[in-house]
Amino acid sequence: MPEIGYVNGSFCDLSDATISIEDRGFQFADGVYEVFVAYGDRVFKQAEHLARLARSLDGIRLPLDPATLGVEQVIREGIARAGFEETMVYLQVTRGTAARSHVYNDDVTPTVVATFKAKPQVAREKRERGLSVITVPDMRWPYCYIKSIALLPNVLAKNDALRRGYDDAVFVAPDGEVREASAANVFVVRGGVLLTPPGTDFILHGITRAHILDCAARIDLPRDERPITREELSAADEMFISSTTTDVLGVTRVDDRAVGAGQVGPVSRALFDEFRASVARDLA
Ligand code: PDD
Repeated sequence: MPEIGYVNGSFCDLSDATISIEDRGFQFADGVYEVFVAYGDRVFKQAEHLARLARSLDGIRLPLDPATLGVEQVIREGIARAGFEETMVYLQVTRGTAARSHVYNDDVTPTVVATFKAKPQVAREKRERGLSVITVPDMRWPYCYIKSIALLPNVLAKNDALRRGYDDAVFVAPDGEVREASAANVFVVRGGVLLTPPGTDFILHGITRAHILDCAARIDLPRDERPITREELSAADEMFISSTTTDVLGVTRVDDRAVGAGQVGPVSRALFDEFRASVARDLA
């Protein structure tokens, strides 16, 4: 199956997809993105992703309606052309190409690019064993609800974590509040209650996160969106992270301590089962 690229109205082989070096995304990270997953031709939670894309565009003062950009049609056609069973769609909108200047024109033509690849699979062994994460200071800007393409702090945190022998990094605010992982939201289970940091501007409002909270409600799991401290991570009975590409992944080590019994726990497992079942129902 070919990996497909899309640039401003045209589909092509991914290796042939190019943009100008004067694209503001390239020069200023002046853009936003979304990552979707499709099972067959069905995109999971497409409307929610598009609503978040609209919020992100608004957040960088590029108030375009994804509908007028024809995004839905691009996604549909790209998935059909690529022909994967499960597709990961990356869609990026930047403020377009212009002579490099911090000042932008309001009438620029945005650059819309997309890639269509097979959805990456998490190794079974990793799912069973659970991840190890290291906590790191959150050095990002205070508008992380915007899915900005400026991801250098996330990239550095993830790679530093890998170099130190961990699977991922979890950002912690100066006041000790846990925010999110480098590319995923964070959940813990404590005393039978599912906890996740509140949907403030400091985190991305994950589509998977929202879906997990719905799943928890369906299996009558008590839940709370409230601040979680770094200490509470280590003291949690169970922990996991969530994102569109990895779904739900258990975390069994935080810094130098095991989480709970050091295994993916029973509450997480029950929730993961409901998650899988509900994805299947949603797409049926
Ligand atoms: N990232 N927090 C951050 C910082 C993220 O980058 C992501 C997703 C999430 C989870 O959001 P969602 O459940 O809507 O995927 C939370 C994508 C997958 C990425 O950058 O590849």
